[in-house]
Amino acid sequence: MRHLSVPSQQTEAWLLRCRREGWLADTGVARLEDGRRGIPLNSNAPPEDDAVWGDFPCVDIEPNAKGPTHWRERLPPSLQALDEAIWPSAYEIQGDVLMVKVEGEAATHEQAMADAMLAQLPNTRLICADEGVEGDFRVRNLRVLASRDGSTTTRTTVKEHGSIMWVDPGEVYFSARLSTQRQETHQHIKSFREQLGKPLVLADPYAGVGPSLPLLINDEGLLSGYIVGDLNPVAVDLLRMNLDAWTRGKDATFSPAITVCQDARTWKSAPENRGQADVLLVNLPHDSFEHLSDLFPLFNRTNPSLLRGWAIVERASLPQRKQHLQELVRDAGGRPSDTFVEEVKGFSSTRCFVVFQTVIAWD
Ligand SMILES: C[S@@+](CC[C@H](N)C(=O)[O-])C[C@H]1O[C@@H](n2cnc3c(N)ncnc32)[C@H](O)[C@@H]1O
Repeated sequence: MRHLSVPSQQTEAWLLRCRREGWLADTGVARLEDGRRGIPLNSNAPPEDDAVWGDFPCVDIEPNAKGPTHWRERLPPSLQALDEAIWPSAYEIQGDVLMVKVEGEAATHEQAMADAMLAQLPNTRLICADEGVEGDFRVRNLRVLASRDGSTTTRTTVKEHGSIMWVDPGEVYFSARLSTQRQETHQHIKSFREQLGKPLVLADPYAGVGPSLPLLINDEGLLSGYIVGDLNPVAVDLLRMNLDAWTRGKDATFSPAITVCQDARTWKSAPENRGQADVLLVNLPHDSFEHLSDLFPLFNRTNPSLLRGWAIVERASLPQRKQHLQELVRDAGGRPSDTFVEEVKGFSSTRCFVVFQTVIAWD
């Protein structure tokens, strides 16, 4: 197969030019002797004696076995010739589902783009256009662009801290980005368990598919029970499937072991939910602070409690947030200590994403 032989420092420039002209074949750059590189050429490329190649020779070698290193190299030559900047520079993968924001000129060629992505990424099954987050359930609006096997379900599995977890990015919120937060949650709950000297009951009323749980369940003796749930029925279906798998075969039994599909603010009305939790997670970032007063009745007030949550707040309001949290705890009849409200790195704008936490003593 014909390759243009160029010095390695000129590889990028010639790749760019050949892509733009529609001369690039999709087999990827080959390594040649003396540190030179072979740019793979397709049948549209001018003959080897054309002046366009300058002094650079063409060589006939086997195509690179590794193939293209980027999905753009799988596009038809006419599209490879377009300005690279029109194509999305990032995408997100959950399990075998790839989600990509398609904007501007790329939208005209979204089908070819999706086909190129499927060809380049063998572990993906479904390519979806991500049209943004909608509604109270914070679910993405996904539009299927291409499927490897004809299936169009967005239900899939991911691995989170060593455990397999069912997710469905088209039906339920889940963010892999918060994985570090989940590790920190585990560490804080561990220290609190040491402080209390007994296994803990966890309440996670905005649990989604349950990503906070595998680390806690796998840490033997950390939890004695849980009350978890979500308002989104699909989330609760997946949460139940996940909990079944995560607790199957464990020596420990959990009591209570309750999954609820209801508005978290109404959980307090059920006697089996009230006065149970040693630890409460509040993960409804747009409304966490507003919901808190309805959640305090879930705490077991015979011993101290740990409250940990996440919120999106105006950056300007950050300095007052700690005091606000302490006031909410006092209004509920508790005494707050070790309280913090901290910005989580990696989010920025006029608003910020914060983690808040407090230990509550009850009189
Ligand atoms: C930001 S997500 C967090 C999900 C999960 N904890 C995670 O980290 O992936 C918030 C969740 O709260 C649920 N939700 C929204 N309003 C709710 C309410 N009033 N009561 C209970 N759950 C609610 C949504 O369906 C969503 O799954």
